[in-house]
Amino acid sequence: MLSGEHGEAIERMFRLLVRLGDVYGADRMIPVGSVQVAGVSYKSIGDPGMEFLEDLAEKGVKVKVSTTLNPAGMDLEKWKELGFPEEFAEKQLRVMDAFKRMGIMTTVTCTPYLVGNLPRYREHIAWSESSAVSFANSVIGARTNREGGPSALAAAICGLTPNYGLHLDEKRKPTLLVKVSAELSDIADFGALGYYVGKLVRKGVPYFKGIKHANVDQLKALGAAMAASGAVALYHVEGITPEAAMMSTEGLESVEVGDKELEETYRSLNTGTGPDIVILGCPHASINEVAELARKLEGKQLKKPLWICTSRATKETARRMGFMNTIEKAGGRLVSDTCMVVSPIEQMGYKTTGVNSGKAANYLPGFCKQQVVFKKMDELLEDIM
Ligand code: F3S
Repeated sequence: MLSGEHGEAIERMFRLLVRLGDVYGADRMIPVGSVQVAGVSYKSIGDPGMEFLEDLAEKGVKVKVSTTLNPAGMDLEKWKELGFPEEFAEKQLRVMDAFKRMGIMTTVTCTPYLVGNLPRYREHIAWSESSAVSFANSVIGARTNREGGPSALAAAICGLTPNYGLHLDEKRKPTLLVKVSAELSDIADFGALGYYVGKLVRKGVPYFKGIKHANVDQLKALGAAMAASGAVALYHVEGITPEAAMMSTEGLESVEVGDKELEETYRSLNTGTGPDIVILGCPHASINEVAELARKLEGKQLKKPLWICTSRATKETARRMGFMNTIEKAGGRLVSDTCMVVSPIEQMGYKTTGVNSGKAANYLPGFCKQQVVFKKMDELLEDIM
C-alpha cells in the first residue's frame, strides 16, 4: 500500500495510519473487524470535507471492512418536513452519496451497536464517535482508540489500524476510583454523573464502585457524558462491565460522588428555562427508550416541539409497533439519521433546548448557540405539555 501499488488514494490513506502509529509508538498494524466513521454532518465538514470525500469516491476507493457512519446533519428522508434548509440538504446528500459509493453503510447513527455493527469482546476495531467508542470499549470489551474522522476512514479503506493505546492491555487499566453513593434512577442521573466524572478524570480510565444497577441505555448515557466533558474512551463498572473484575484498584486515587455533587452538576448544566423544543435521544434512542416515551405520551398533547433522535432501523421498528403513531399524535417527531448537536437547529429558530443527556447539555451551547434545560425526561415533558 505504501509503495503505491494499490493506487495513490490508498497510499495517502495508509501513510496517514503509518504517521499516526509513529507518533504513538505503535509496533505494527493490526487488522480491524469494523469501522465507524465520524465527520458526516455537512455542518461539521463543510465544502472541504465534502470535496475530499467526493474525490476518494471518484477514484473508486472502497472500504475493506464493515463500516458504518455517525449521524448526518439532517433526517435524510424527512428533512423538508422538519424545516432543514434546502442548500444544506443538497450538500448533505452529496456527502452521503460519496460515502455510499465507497461501500460504507449509510446507517448514520452513534449507536451502531444497536443496529448491526456489533463487535465482539476483545475485537480490534477503529471507531470514531466518542460515545460509541466508550460503549464499545467499556460495555462490550472491544478495543478501539478514539479515532478522528480521517483516521477511521483510512482504517476502513486499508482494513488496518496502528497497534497502540486502548488496543493494548496495559492502557486499559483504571486511573481513578470513583465511589458512587448518589441515588441513580433516571438516564439524566447517569448523564450528570458522567459529566461530573469526565471533568475530573479527563483522558483517564475511571473505575466505578457503588453503581448497583445500570441498563444498556443508562450505560450509553454515562459513557457519552464522560467522553464529552472529558475525553474518556473507556470506563469500568464493578460487577457490570466485562473487564472490571480483572482490574485492580489498589493504590488508586479515589473520589466520592454523592447526591450533592449530582445536584451541583444539574445546576451547572442548566443555562436556560422554558425550552422552545425538547430533543431526546443522545446517544440515539434505543427501541426501549422510544417505547417508554410512547407510553408516557399516550393520549397527551404537546404544546411545543419534541424530537426523539434515533437510527432509521429503530424508527422503522417503532413505526411497526405503533409507537411512532402514538408519539406523532401527541405532537412529537421521531427524527432519524441526525441529532440535536450535528443538525443546524440554531438556523431553525430554536434558542433554548431541553435535553436529558449530559453530552448534549455539554455541546449545545458551543455547537448550536443554545441555552440548555437539562432535566429528567418526565420533567422535560411536563415543561412542554
Ligand atoms: Fe449521538 Fe449526537 Fe449525541 S452523535 S451521542 S446524538 S451528540
